Amino acid sequence: MVDLLLGLQWGDEGKGKIVDVLTQSYDIIARFQGGPNAGHTLEFEGHKHVLHTIPSGIFHPTAINLIGNGVVIDPVIFKKELEGLSGFNIDFGKKLLISKKAHLILPTHRLLDAASEASKGKAKIGSTLKGIGPTYMDKTGRNGIRVGDILANDWKDRYQTLVEKHTRLLANYEAALEYDLEELEKEFFDSLESLKRCQIVDSENYLHQAQKAGKKILAEGAQGSLLDVDFGTYPFVTSSTTTAAGACTGLGIAPNTVKEVFGIFKAYTTRVGSGPFPTELFDENGERMGKVGNEFGATTGRARRCGWLDLVALKYAIRVNGVNQLMMMKGDVLSGFSTLKVCTAYETSEGPVAHLPFDLSDPSIKPIWKDVSPWKEDLTAMTAEDQFPANFQLYIDFLEEELETPIKIVSVGPDRKQTIFR
Ligand code: GDP
Ligand code: IMO
Ligand code: MG
Repeated sequence: MVDLLLGLQWGDEGKGKIVDVLTQSYDIIARFQGGPNAGHTLEFEGHKHVLHTIPSGIFHPTAINLIGNGVVIDPVIFKKELEGLSGFNIDFGKKLLISKKAHLILPTHRLLDAASEASKGKAKIGSTLKGIGPTYMDKTGRNGIRVGDILANDWKDRYQTLVEKHTRLLANYEAALEYDLEELEKEFFDSLESLKRCQIVDSENYLHQAQKAGKKILAEGAQGSLLDVDFGTYPFVTSSTTTAAGACTGLGIAPNTVKEVFGIFKAYTTRVGSGPFPTELFDENGERMGKVGNEFGATTGRARRCGWLDLVALKYAIRVNGVNQLMMMKGDVLSGFSTLKVCTAYETSEGPVAHLPFDLSDPSIKPIWKDVSPWKEDLTAMTAEDQFPANFQLYIDFLEEELETPIKIVSVGPDRKQTIFR
């Protein structure tokens, strides 16, 4: 039995926090896509920790954490992640498993990402520059190098062939990138040992056996549905399938073994990087969300763009993923606003629409707003639903009705403890 947990917006919904909270009910936490472009923040017992490649169940004493075949791994970042966890006495050899089929991010993938972004000028994606796009391109282009490959003797020849291809590509970009490949490669090869501190496994087989033995598996998504390579705001997306189908291809699990699909969203919207964002705010409300919500990228530190909740986009994400339980995060950030709005439809050149248009960048698209009654009470110390102010409760009820899906968790702060189950 597998449950999925996915972001329904443009990422940073609070996936890490909720996976950490839910881990106690699962045997295995499995990341299925993305790479170190992700930054999943966990807060507990005074610690604040950001994970990039490692699943968010790693702090649980017994849960197995698996990095699936759909993930792309940068060994250099992975090594740092392991080092960052050194104070927690985690037995990685026992608890952290890596798929042999996960692809490796090479130093030249990162360089290609930077060169590609620089060449785009104003049209840049706003990539995290972690080499994600180029690595997935080599995966689908059938040139990539997988974790399992490094266990074979001849892999360095293949590495060399790929790097030569990359250097030829880099030379084609107009703005020359300065880099010291020797130095980058030394760091890369030194870091590979860190992968071997974990179990490198045939992860799909491992998961099949686990399913047969009745183990409970939670698949952890990265990024968000609107960054999905097919269903997101293309081309301003990431290069993986962030939606529910990605859990099947990224772990080798069959669709009919998936049970619950948990969809996680913020009570407002944020986006980091470029691309359309119809409900974005450029006023003091947006500024306040960013400040109170501490909306800075967990991976790049960039300020996140902020805006009101977009129900058109949220409904679309719920449908694409088959979400049957919602989790609402950061309602506490909205306390004290004098006005609150949600977008219920878009005005377009063809009249109002309640579905996501093909091109969300079309300047004629304007949100149609609904006013919601604000609340001023601080939610962060609340521990049960009956303590919620009436207008916050109304906001939850309104969203459940609009989205036709129950909100099962309401998060009122970054800490593990600030989580209310309904
Ligand atoms: P992820 O990428 O989906 O795991 O989310 P991030 O960790 O990138 O961003 C979520 C941010 O919001 C982190 O800084 C969390 O600590 C914080 N956070 C999570 N839930 C809540 C909440 O309910 N209220 C507040 N104020 N912060 C939260
Ligand atoms: P988590 O898992 C928010 C965004 C980047 C950029 C676009 C493409 O923490 O929610 P990429 O590096 O993949 O080439 O960037 O996607 N992006 C994210 N935004 N949260 C993330 O991950 C993201 N991962 C990528 O900002 O706009
Ligand atoms: Mg994040």
